Amino acid sequence: MHLSYMQHPINVIFACILVTLVILLDNVHGFSVKNVIDSPLLTQKIQTNRTIKVDANGQGDFKSVQAAIDSIPNGNSNWIIIHVTKGIYREKVHIPRNKPYIFIRGNGRGRTAIVWSENSEDNYQSATFKVEAPYFVAFGISFKNDAPTGIAHTSQNQSVAALVGGDKAAFYHCGFFSSHNTLFDYKGRHYYDNCYIQGSIDFIFGRGQSIFHDCEIFVIANKRHEIRGSITANSRQSAKESSGFIFVKGRVYGVGDVYLGRAKGAYSRVVFANTYFSRTVIPQGWTNWSHPGSTDNLAHAEYKCHGPGSASTNRAPWSKQLSDKEAAPFLSVDFIKGKEWLPAWL
Ligand SMILES: *[C@@H]1O[C@H](CO)[C@@H](O)[C@H](O)[C@H]1NC(C)=O
Ligand SMILES: *[C@@H]1O[C@H](CO)[C@@H](O)[C@H](O)[C@H]1NC(C)=O
Ligand SMILES: *[C@@H]1O[C@H](CO)[C@@H](O)[C@H](O)[C@H]1NC(C)=O
Repeated sequence: MHLSYMQHPINVIFACILVTLVILLDNVHGFSVKNVIDSPLLTQKIQTNRTIKVDANGQGDFKSVQAAIDSIPNGNSNWIIIHVTKGIYREKVHIPRNKPYIFIRGNGRGRTAIVWSENSEDNYQSATFKVEAPYFVAFGISFKNDAPTGIAHTSQNQSVAALVGGDKAAFYHCGFFSSHNTLFDYKGRHYYDNCYIQGSIDFIFGRGQSIFHDCEIFVIANKRHEIRGSITANSRQSAKESSGFIFVKGRVYGVGDVYLGRAKGAYSRVVFANTYFSRTVIPQGWTNWSHPGSTDNLAHAEYKCHGPGSASTNRAPWSKQLSDKEAAPFLSVDFIKGKEWLPAWL
């Protein structure tokens, strides 16, 4: 008599164990299939192969990133890729207003970095990297300002790693490193996907209109006792301004205690949705420190966040836990009209 595979009892048990294992791995341990935006996809979306290669060891067209940018004509109107190969590029880099359609691609944020060390009372001046042109994309590269600033040092000056001041800028798998005032999200619409942003105080600040999707926010120690560090300092000044920092998914963790945000403008708008908060997020969550006026117009809000720092019981009285309906306008790239200009989004 012929016995098919599944009819044999041992094989049935074996198959059941296999199916159970697959389900366990998929759900319980979070090994579920996840979409990731990679460099070939972005290249395909912007539809160009035109590439300038920057290599610190002289194997490319240029040895410095700025030299590559300088070679692009003013009023550039076709996408161009600047491939910055593995290495640390010690220079300040500026993409001026009249050079749109630049895609800077590194070899991974742990392998390619633009680093400078400068502190100043002026945020604009201190920035290692500045992009002021519209239509900008970066992938797999780090921006660092390693000036010794902050409470542990003599200088309380600013040390910006990157200033993003152009409209329609997107960063994928990038890193931003400084002790404070790390990412100056100055103005315009921006998308940050799977980025790593580190700092102690006001480390994401400005008047940008931005979505931070699945980003890792790492809080380094801030040695103040009275005033703790703050992840964000959004400067929205009126109800008419479209500015706001929206964090969707991702996680907040690190070393020091931190507020999610402080009110830098009377209409400061910051939302954390579906985000993991470690204990580094203090129970009060939000602060009006240095904002002398009314807290009535502050939009400091959370939606379905989780983790030990997410308990809402002791949150600042003006902060909100949003309902599904209230959260909806912030949960997609429609908040930045992303479907009209982003090469890719999740
Ligand atoms: C880019 O180069 C690849 C490989 O040579 C080619 O298959 C693809 O069609 C090119 N894409 C564009 C937009 O030129
Ligand atoms: C702070 O920045 C200013 C320039 O804005 C500079 O003159 C001053 O030396 C800096 N302070 C320190 C301690 O580095
Ligand atoms: C600002 O925050 C402090 C501390 O939480 C609080 O006592 C004060 O009432 C707040 N100001 C306003 C206008 O809500």
